[in-house]
Amino acid sequence: MYVRLATARDRRKISDLIASAFGQHGEALLVDNLREQEDVVYEWVATVLDEVVGHLALSRLVEPVNCLALAPVSVHPFRQRQGIGSALIHAALELAEEDEWTAVFVLGDPKYYGKFGFDVSQAGGFDSPYPHEFTAAAVLDAGAFASLKRELVYPAAFAGV
Ligand SMILES: CC(C)(COP(=O)(O)OP(=O)(O)OC[C@H]1O[C@@H](n2cnc3c(N)ncnc32)[C@H](O)[C@@H]1OP(=O)(O)O)[C@@H](O)C(=O)NCCC(=O)NCCS
Repeated sequence: MYVRLATARDRRKISDLIASAFGQHGEALLVDNLREQEDVVYEWVATVLDEVVGHLALSRLVEPVNCLALAPVSVHPFRQRQGIGSALIHAALELAEEDEWTAVFVLGDPKYYGKFGFDVSQAGGFDSPYPHEFTAAAVLDAGAFASLKRELVYPAAFAGV
């Protein structure tokens, strides 16, 4: 398994993969819309023998500044529980930190994302359109994080989900 940044040539395979991971097309559409609105900052894929078996997108939040939203993360149903999701999330967080983003926010199962340093209590003080119990933050720059505006505004494409 190989993890790398996605290219435009991966897009059709990425859509198929996301749809099979979620069993529906909404999340693939979210990624299409995020790209269209130029809100995607990074897309990662995991490949096995040139097949795309995993994908992850990081998009720029409107608020707070210099922060990213992680969504969605997808691993092909036949390849789940083999460490692919973990490899994608670790690679994505490492590059985001290197590129000096302040934090990455995620909406999802706190038990799963907690393994990667996402902490519900760090996101708790932020006004959010989504439930606080499923919103977590991985802080990459603690100094900058302390002075962020305490409000989460997601890219427009999220409203369609
Ligand atoms: C959630 C998902 C991305 C995880 O990817 P994966 O490659 O199967 O996960 P990994 O093999 O890296 O698992 C990492 C750890 O999380 C655990 N885990 C995996 N899926 C889990 C889940 N749905 N809930 C809780 N824990 C989970 C694994 O047991 C493993 O724990 P361990 O390190 O203690 O053994 C994948 O199952 C998926 O695509 N699901 C459908 C789409 C989805 O729900 N995406 C997440 C919401 S955006």
